[in-house]
Amino acid sequence: MCKRFENKVAIVTGAASGIGRAAAVLFGREGAKVTVCDVNEAGLEETRALVAAEGAECLSMIVDVRKQEQVEACVAATLEKFGTIDILVNNAGTGQFVPFAMMDNEEYDRVMDINVRGMFFFSRAVLPTMMDKDYGKIVNVTSIMGEVAGQGQSIYNTSKGAAKMMTQGIAVDCSGYHINVNAVAPGMVLTGLTKNMLGDPDQVQYFLEKIPMRRIGEPEDIAHAILFLASDQASYIHGATLHVDGGMMCTRM
Ligand SMILES: NC(=O)c1ccc[n+]([C@@H]2O[C@H](COP(=O)([O-])OP(=O)(O)OC[C@H]3O[C@@H](n4cnc5c(N)ncnc54)[C@H](O)[C@@H]3O)[C@@H](O)[C@H]2O)c1
Repeated sequence: MCKRFENKVAIVTGAASGIGRAAAVLFGREGAKVTVCDVNEAGLEETRALVAAEGAECLSMIVDVRKQEQVEACVAATLEKFGTIDILVNNAGTGQFVPFAMMDNEEYDRVMDINVRGMFFFSRAVLPTMMDKDYGKIVNVTSIMGEVAGQGQSIYNTSKGAAKMMTQGIAVDCSGYHINVNAVAPGMVLTGLTKNMLGDPDQVQYFLEKIPMRRIGEPEDIAHAILFLASDQASYIHGATLHVDGGMMCTRM
């Protein structure tokens, strides 16, 4: 099989589960050295084993993306172990299911800090390396819910809208470098984030009616798009958001 990421080094955040795990495994399969990080130690160890089973070198670190010192330690450890960083996937994320009027400050901070501040910390920490070598790929996992609002998800919507615009802002600030910065916006995907909701057959039916492809996404559906944007095949795609949603954004059904 074609190994697009031989000699490349990728960091994947939120890699203990779901989309991040799928992306880490595919990067390993395609020849990358992979740093996986997350706050979920048990899940992270499972991901590390899956990446290693692909024959890839893997560094695994407990990192809370809200903590600047942990983010910077992860970047430093990756540089120490692998010598460089080519790819960053800002995937760690959290959801919110509280009506706006009932949101307290702590929940607002939790959602914004994980979904936005973490992306800021990690992107800023890898850019000096990418600028020095004049090469890099940053792929941010946003959401179609950063472009349309969902009930009880106002601050999640806010965070993902901010992540989309951070993608565009970093892209513009990387002008003149061979650094691509893009986003993948998933629709409805079966992962740790959605498994409770999608455990309810009525909810599954509700979403199936809204998805023109008539199926819920798999983590690999999103991971393949992440790898494409991280590859040199996407070298003229910059500041873009790729919807990977089975067509949900095409319609108001
Ligand atoms: N599943 C969907 O339908 C869907 C839709 C749109 C967008 N997304 C986005 O996809 C991304 C991945 O989510 P997923 O669906 O795979 O869910 P998931 O819950 O399976 O994975 C998210 C991972 O992020 C980790 N994480 C949470 N807070 C963290 C922190 N502070 N520091 C480090 N890691 C942390 C979790 O431990 C978990 O392993 C998220 O950004 C999410 O918003 C998912």
